[in-house]
Amino acid sequence: MSAVLEVAELSTAILTATGARPVVRGVSFAVAAGETLAIVGESGSGKTLTALSVMGLLPDGARVTGGSVRLGDRDLLGLGARERRAVRGAELAMIYQDPTTALNPLMRVGAQVRETLRAHGRSAEAARGRTLEALDEVGLPNPERIARAFPHQLSGGMRQRVVIAIAVSTRPRLLIADEPTTALDVTVQQQILALVDRLRADHGMGVIWITHDLGVVARIAQRTLVMYAGRAVEVGRTADLYRAPQHPYTAGLLGSVPPARGTQRPPLAQIGGQPPDPGALPPGCPFRPRCPQARDRCAATEPPLLARPPQQAACWVPVPEWSRAC
Ligand SMILES: Nc1ncnc2c1ncn2[C@@H]1O[C@H](COP(=O)(O)OP(=O)(O)OP(=O)(O)O)[C@@H](O)[C@H]1O
Ligand code: SF4
Ligand SMILES: [Mg+2]
Repeated sequence: MSAVLEVAELSTAILTATGARPVVRGVSFAVAAGETLAIVGESGSGKTLTALSVMGLLPDGARVTGGSVRLGDRDLLGLGARERRAVRGAELAMIYQDPTTALNPLMRVGAQVRETLRAHGRSAEAARGRTLEALDEVGLPNPERIARAFPHQLSGGMRQRVVIAIAVSTRPRLLIADEPTTALDVTVQQQILALVDRLRADHGMGVIWITHDLGVVARIAQRTLVMYAGRAVEVGRTADLYRAPQHPYTAGLLGSVPPARGTQRPPLAQIGGQPPDPGALPPGCPFRPRCPQARDRCAATEPPLLARPPQQAACWVPVPEWSRAC
């Protein structure tokens, strides 16, 4: 399948009084039409800033310092602010953890969906029709009634559905979902996951699903990218990562996920300690202070992503060597 989005060597830094603090460090990935890529990692690993770099929505003080972000045949990093705004919403959309902040509390839901459609060139009449269609597509009962409601009249799950309706109303080629279910109870989380997965399948939309919980994405993501200290440390098919993680950090993240039948995983250790400050990384492998498999050679140089078939992992020590140590 063709790639909707191709990110190559993306680097982003926070500019501080004492210099640039790198927070995304040379991350590369692609998302195909109709594919879900999960981006997984602990708090502070750089998941959100990777997504905001792709969207062109970095907070003040943060800058992309290198790499490329290609959507089809355009490099988004080379576009001006106006062109970037046109791409956002029409072709790229993002949903966030807290649906309340994404909605205007003083505006009726229907007006908010219509506003997005009007901003992307739909006539008033077309926007009205598409609004009801989009509310229906995300499984909201009685779209006419929902369109007249204010956000506070809806449950948290319904508000997140409205946010998804706004995001997909323009039929974007790629949807980035940044932990959109963490504020919701487990049953509603499952419904939202299933909804986004259906929209992906029905419309051939690419999806990036960001989470700190590998268990959440097992069923919906075809591929997974694991981030640590601003870098991709393991990338591959989700099924392969689950069956045989090639980076000790992935193995640690999986420690709390029950193995499926037939899974053969290398030794799993719960990860102790804290992730490093991206502004003060230790020499060598950034995971070394917490790594149960660390060797002397890990202190010298930071490992790049290496081929560890069938996936790639940024670890100097191949899995058979871990197993021998146990
Ligand atoms: N607006 C900001 N100003 C300064 N530093 C920031 C800002 N946003 C993020 N950071 C820093 O950048 C690093 C990466 O943050 P990011 O929000 O991308 O992590 P994350 O993986 O999304 O974490 P979480 O799971 O908590 O959402 C962290 O060290 C964070 O403290
Ligand atoms: S390179 Fe060494 S310290 Fe880093 S993850 Fe691999 S074994 Fe652990
Ligand atoms: Mg985040």
